[in-house]
Amino acid sequence: MTTPTVAPTTDTTPSTHAQPVDGALPLPVLRNVADLRAQVAAWRAAGQTVALVPTMGALHDGHLALVRRGRELADHVIASVFVNPTQFAPHEDFDRYPRDEAGDAAKLASAGCAALYAPSVRGMYPEGFATAISVGGPSEGLCGTFRPQMFGGVALVVTKLFLQALPDVAVFGEKDYQQLMVIRRFTRDLDIPVRVEGLPTVREADGLALSSRNAYLSVDERARAPELNRALIAAAAALSAGALLEDVLTAARARIAEAGFGTIDYVELRDADTLAPITRVERPARLLAAAWLGKARLIDNVPVLPA
Ligand code: PAJ
Repeated sequence: MTTPTVAPTTDTTPSTHAQPVDGALPLPVLRNVADLRAQVAAWRAAGQTVALVPTMGALHDGHLALVRRGRELADHVIASVFVNPTQFAPHEDFDRYPRDEAGDAAKLASAGCAALYAPSVRGMYPEGFATAISVGGPSEGLCGTFRPQMFGGVALVVTKLFLQALPDVAVFGEKDYQQLMVIRRFTRDLDIPVRVEGLPTVREADGLALSSRNAYLSVDERARAPELNRALIAAAAALSAGALLEDVLTAARARIAEAGFGTIDYVELRDADTLAPITRVERPARLLAAAWLGKARLIDNVPVLPA
């Protein structure tokens, strides 16, 4: 039998300290696994707990709410910023995804984040990387149909982040509800000792869910965008009042189309925990939608409670 060898991480990019911007506090920027683990180990040695907030950057108040929740749950919060190539298909927006590390570091510092983990693509996926993770159950349907590569890529990168940092808790947004359910499932299935915490969607005053991709909207599209949320809220109320699912979904799709959305990828009712398709609301459910507005694909979801 041959002894397996583990190659050392190929990324030796030095970690740095982000320059303070506009009076914000500086923030250590960790660039490789060794520095990340040394930071976590130092806190653990002092008996302190750690929360991880994984992101792809271009941070807004939704991300910062996750950091603040992390601070309530643990002594220190590490945010990761990594635009993960394995969750984008070749035709998707990996190259034009907004990137602003200095701005992100300043926002994280002012939200009370203790360190930024920003590994390189080469550091996360060294040459010869050959491992994939496939999650069934909650990955099936919804965004899993329209972005078939996405949840495998999310599962892979979040598993790596969990094993690299081994935080006590990790915080994710309900904005990406299916993603949250997928993360809960593989964390449980693989016995990863990290508590997964969900936070309700942070919205603009008019109901639009905050998203880095809202930057793709024109002024006119931005004015129309909240109709996605309004259509879901109206549909959820009708379902709770006992209306027929088919009628409710037809009305919701019509309202979204009238608001100027183009392709509607889906509007669907699912069980809130398993994400299994359902036709009646007998226990907590979730109404989820994805639709295109100009160049932006917007997603949203709302809870639906039984009457
Ligand atoms: P990203 O889109 O940057 O989102 C990072 C985290 O912020 C996710 O948990 C997401 O649900 C949460 N979030 C985004 N907008 C939010 C809002 N308006 N309210 C509350 N939370 C919000 O999701 C990803 O990155 C990636 O797939 C990742 C999990 C980091 C893996 O690459």
